[in-house]
Amino acid sequence: MFSKHIYSQRRQQLKKTVDKGIILLLGNEESSMNYKDNLYPFRQDSTFLYFFGIDRPSLMAIIDIENNSEILFGDNLTTEQMVWTGFQEPLELLAEKTGVAQVKRLHEIEGVIKNAQSQNRRIHFLPPYRPEQIDTLHSLLGIMPGALQNRISVSLIKAIVAQRAVKAPEEIEEITKAVNTTVRMQLAAITMAEKGMTEALIAGSIHNIAIAEGGNLSFPSILTINGQILHIGYSQATLQNGHLVLCDCGAETAMHYAGDLTRTFPVSGRFTSMQKDIYDIVLAAHQSAADMLKPGILYRDVHLFACEKLTEGLKQLGLMKGDVKEAVAQGAHALFFPCGLGHMLGLDTHDMENLGEKYVGYNDDIIQSTQFGLKSLRLGRALEEGFVITVEPGLYFNPQLIDEWAAEKRCNIFIQYDKLNSYKNAGGIRIEEDFLITKNGSLLLGDPLPKTAKEIEIVRAS
Ligand code: GLY
Ligand code: MN
Repeated sequence: MFSKHIYSQRRQQLKKTVDKGIILLLGNEESSMNYKDNLYPFRQDSTFLYFFGIDRPSLMAIIDIENNSEILFGDNLTTEQMVWTGFQEPLELLAEKTGVAQVKRLHEIEGVIKNAQSQNRRIHFLPPYRPEQIDTLHSLLGIMPGALQNRISVSLIKAIVAQRAVKAPEEIEEITKAVNTTVRMQLAAITMAEKGMTEALIAGSIHNIAIAEGGNLSFPSILTINGQILHIGYSQATLQNGHLVLCDCGAETAMHYAGDLTRTFPVSGRFTSMQKDIYDIVLAAHQSAADMLKPGILYRDVHLFACEKLTEGLKQLGLMKGDVKEAVAQGAHALFFPCGLGHMLGLDTHDMENLGEKYVGYNDDIIQSTQFGLKSLRLGRALEEGFVITVEPGLYFNPQLIDEWAAEKRCNIFIQYDKLNSYKNAGGIRIEEDFLITKNGSLLLGDPLPKTAKEIEIVRAS
């Protein structure tokens, strides 16, 4: 945990911004894998972690704005329960560490909520993203599950996004730690991969590193010879010469701050000339995007500029044609780049995505597009000093998508369908790095990691 002053100050700030009412924050529950006592790894809710820092299941909290008070609700384990779990610090001690004066037992929250309801006070709560949260909100507030989304507190969401989006120095330190572990995972993948190995063998090895360094994965690793599928994961597929391996992985620290990096490398040790051509286009788009990062710039504009760079490169390869800006405006490039350039990074890999992309990555001025490709851009609004974001352009040759577009003659004034046949099995290439937005520009987070095709070939050769 950080020091108690940090959590107290964060809650003070929240009380100021939300203005009035009571704020109900739910910690997460344990989740059973296949029977009650066999559990998935526990992951605390990130907003609960941000305001209270307590990494334990079955907790709730109420922040009362007008009364300037905070109550933590939870039960201490009995000695008999601790026979199974080992010693657990009493909640009263954890409350002290996070600067909360009042601790009540879990069942007592019902009375506090009923009391607030009887006084017609506004009860602010966040969008539920797990079934247990829906159950809890339904039984505590008496709101039908289907109606909860309409009753979430937009003012609470906006206040939390405003706070969590700007990272404090101690958070940047944690994120950097996570990125550095992720760098070691990437280096392990790049150096260990050999023909005949399975994707799963490498994915398992890099998971080891995340665990051994005290945290875990920040999201399930994407480690694949099928990089054209954006979020495919890994399988028992065997690496062969000629394949590219796309490794998109991240560690989270013990405090749950995340890293998220991607590299793509050739199994044989050398990129083929077709692979290198594609790689260099992605690298140029990455560099152009990274060079633009600074406070005030719309991330949507950075994304669109990267799309133009990709389109220019594809034109030079003979796969696209026509006016570059017009091609991007009409979404033609999305055949090869059907996703966004990046997202915020923090306590979540896609930071705060559970609060709603329209509040995290967009605002009243910048509305999320509905166009294929651009609609998957998670962050469109102006960057601010203290944001931590990813930059992750890619080129993806998805045969199914290519065939469908070709059959429809979609965007055929911009796409050379007759030239695409020989690229249908080219796979996918992505390059991803994590940046802090600084006063005048940006700072690349983490230790160096080979990035150019040449640097990657040198590491593969050694
Ligand atoms: N690294 C996975 C993602 O950004 O979706
Ligand atoms: Mn990412």
